[in-house]
Amino acid sequence: EHADRAKLIEAHELAGKLYEYLLHNTEQGKEAKQYLHARGMTDKLIETFGIGYAPSRWDTLTNLLDKKQFPLPLVEQGGLISAKQDGSGYVDKFRDRVMFPIRDWKGHIIAFGGRAMGDVQPKYLNSPESMLFHKSRTLYNLHAARPQIRKSQELVLFEGYMDVIRAWEAGVHNGVATMGTALTPEHAEAIRRLAERVVVSYDGDNAGQSAAYKSIPLLENAGCNVRIAMLPNGLDPDEYISAHGSERFVREVIETAVPSIKYKLFYYRKNYKLQEDGEKLRYIQQALRLIAGLTSPIEREHYVRELCSEFHLTFESAMQNLNEIRLQAEKKD
Ligand code: CTP
Ligand code: MN
Ligand code: MN
Ligand code: MN
Ligand code: MN
Repeated sequence: EHADRAKLIEAHELAGKLYEYLLHNTEQGKEAKQYLHARGMTDKLIETFGIGYAPSRWDTLTNLLDKKQFPLPLVEQGGLISAKQDGSGYVDKFRDRVMFPIRDWKGHIIAFGGRAMGDVQPKYLNSPESMLFHKSRTLYNLHAARPQIRKSQELVLFEGYMDVIRAWEAGVHNGVATMGTALTPEHAEAIRRLAERVVVSYDGDNAGQSAAYKSIPLLENAGCNVRIAMLPNGLDPDEYISAHGSERFVREVIETAVPSIKYKLFYYRKNYKLQEDGEKLRYIQQALRLIAGLTSPIEREHYVRELCSEFHLTFESAMQNLNEIRLQAEKKD
């Protein structure tokens, strides 16, 4: 098992080198590089993240691994190659894609994410679960971001490869990504072991907003202090940086991330038509229920005061309401 793991890592490292070579030294690779440049990536950034290109042929990686006498059935289990249907051998799994190496926390390549450049589906093809790659535990870029995460005691959580990479260019060197899967308790535990604070910077579309909402209890149960970075107009971090630049991303998105309670209030608020009295009252009740869940009395008072000033309520009546909610919650426990 140990020997198999080591061999499979070696195969991934070799594949990573091959993909990088092909990006920088072939005609097809040139197109892939143009694609990356058009998406705002510099050569330096491409090199830093070890980005490569898997060509459209069926046998480029398979032949190399075969020549170097790698055990192909093992490599197939790792997902770099696929067995042919007729059993006559193997073919490359990743073809005509920009390749993002995924590393474990020690820096070994354990998987790849491959992005199609046209409208090919799926947009990203990722390595399957294997003896090396466990999606529910892996965070993209954790290896490189670890020192800064430790130092700052803060981690920035993104959805995707491009978000991490362009944020890195913007100076955010403590960014990692869940790669589209939902955050798991295992992710949250791993995060808490490294940092006290987390800034969730998911996409601004509905899927991203809902994923951010769901990440809050997971991270808080693990003991993290959570803030949420909000992006306008459904943009994702990568798109925001393209539209508004790096400085504004850091200053107006990351540094202005809001405490989780603020985000929850925002998240629920969208569902109410606040011009209508009935809806407004229901929202106020909902907001008080959220605020009632805060453990710190000072924080509760702070957010109740905010709510009161916005909706022209007296502090006393709002607090009375809040305390009733807390009493009922206690009874339930
Ligand atoms: N993802 C995936 N498979 C897909 C779509 C997405 O594995 N078919 C993962 C990738 O890790 C991707 C992340 O989910 O980076 C976020 O998805 P999405 O927001 O759709 O992609 P972007 O990261 O914005 O990719 P791009 O900017 O290249 O379009
Ligand atoms: Mn394992
Ligand atoms: Mn998304
Ligand atoms: Mn996105
Ligand atoms: Mn994107």
